[in-house]
Amino acid sequence: MAGDPRYWRMRPQAPAWGTVLGPLDDIRDGAGKEYRFGRGKGAFSMFVVRRGQAVWGYFNLCPHFSLPLNYRAEQFTNEDGSLIRCSMHFAEFRFEDGFCVAGAAEDCYLDPVPLTVADGEIRIIDEADLPIWEASQIR
Ligand code: FES
Repeated sequence: MAGDPRYWRMRPQAPAWGTVLGPLDDIRDGAGKEYRFGRGKGAFSMFVVRRGQAVWGYFNLCPHFSLPLNYRAEQFTNEDGSLIRCSMHFAEFRFEDGFCVAGAAEDCYLDPVPLTVADGEIRIIDEADLPIWEASQIR
């Protein structure tokens, strides 16, 4: 079953719908970046991966062992930037829908944080736009 685009909002210290994450150019093409909200062990963590002008956001929790996917802030992709890679046991996921195509989390999805890009800024969509976002996704 595909990842739940509302799951992230149920987590402690989750940002609000519509939150601006920052400039698109903060993320290299084929790479990812972590965004954290709140403090301490319960801080909310998500990440964004970029391909060209397109971005995809995911809650930073691997479906294999319920661990963050990264050790370092920008460690989210494989060597050629074609797939998301979990640093723990190397499961690999598609950018487009978070589906695990290889490794320990096979047939699982990451939970998306729906994003948009406007005027060079990455932003979480407004909740009212979720049906439009869902209709635009590859499933
Ligand atoms: S925790 Fe991600 S592959 Fe095991």
